[in-house]
Amino acid sequence: METKDALLSLISEPTEGSGNKVTVVGVGQVGMACAFSILSQGVSSDVVLVDVMEDKLKGEMMDLQHGALFLKNARIAASTDYSVTAGSKLCIITAGVRQKEGESRLDLVQRNTDVLKHIVPKLVQYSPDTIILVVSNPVDILTYVAWKLSGLPKNRVIGSGTNLDTSRFRFLISQKLGVSPSSVHGWIIGEHGDSSVAIWSGVNVAGVRLRELNPSVGTSEDPENWTDIHKQVIMSAYDVIKLKGYTSWAIGLSVASLASSILRNSNNVHAVSTYVKDLHGIDQDVFLSVPAVLGAGGISHAVSQKLSDAEKASLYKSASIMAEVQSGLKF
Ligand code: NAI
Ligand code: 2OP
Repeated sequence: METKDALLSLISEPTEGSGNKVTVVGVGQVGMACAFSILSQGVSSDVVLVDVMEDKLKGEMMDLQHGALFLKNARIAASTDYSVTAGSKLCIITAGVRQKEGESRLDLVQRNTDVLKHIVPKLVQYSPDTIILVVSNPVDILTYVAWKLSGLPKNRVIGSGTNLDTSRFRFLISQKLGVSPSSVHGWIIGEHGDSSVAIWSGVNVAGVRLRELNPSVGTSEDPENWTDIHKQVIMSAYDVIKLKGYTSWAIGLSVASLASSILRNSNNVHAVSTYVKDLHGIDQDVFLSVPAVLGAGGISHAVSQKLSDAEKASLYKSASIMAEVQSGLKF
């Protein structure tokens, strides 16, 4: 008799599956930051990694598995074969090229569209009920591409969008005010990137809107130059890329917060990229971020923010940029 059989007497066959399986495609800096945040916060106990680089993939899997004891015994698997992803509740796409210094997110669009063509159909084949969360850039356009390639309903194809920009915004305001980021309420919507829109009209602490105290907050007339904070948000990725070559930790944490809302069906509101045609009067077939309610079915509602005319005009500009880039895409 083998030692295992001497130790364990079968009472019933063990149940397969965790009910909270998450696949992360792409084990680069971003994919691993997402996987690590999800595992270390206990958001999922069942994470699968996929990449095309076999050795790197195996190395990352083994390195995480060696820490499983400290991750509440999470299951960690990896393969270049998508059958390992079967039954995922959430599939996170982080694969593809990233910006080099001097490149914008939009410069990556055709290369990463080609990458998604290999990934999305396989994810849907093995997990037809999954939610897809796109992180690869340019995230708004690639979320549109993933939606088209997947055939999934729009509530189940989401882009990480301006959840990250919103976190950067709240952090920078918190530094200026000396209160914590979670006590500062404010939203960045629109494109994750250069044309993002700061909703200064709603920025508040404890319900006190900064605009009630200083009506020029977020405008070019403001002597305190609060609008510089939005410029810093836009420059954040460029600054970090210049310093360390890529961004990873903040997006990993941001994605873990989205994964948590989905897997726990919490109905938290996040700024994520969703299909925005007919919202705020947008008439293009595009994905952009707006605050949205996230739960087990993906996005259930978009929040109808009261936007100023200037904010609406900026949002329309984001939509036009997306539509123009999409019109030149081959997929
Ligand atoms: P990286 O170069 O470190 O990793 C990319 C990974 O994708 C590599 O391991 C590569 O082998 C893999 N890959 C490439 N083609 C693949 C395919 N067909 N199937 C499976 N895996 C494939 O890049 P990094 O830094 O991880 O960035 C990944 C993406 O995330 C970039 O597009 C970057 O711009 C984006 N990003 C998005 C953010 C957001 O807020 N949405 C924040 C930070 C980065
Ligand atoms: C970021 O904002 C590059 O989109 C990436 O960190």
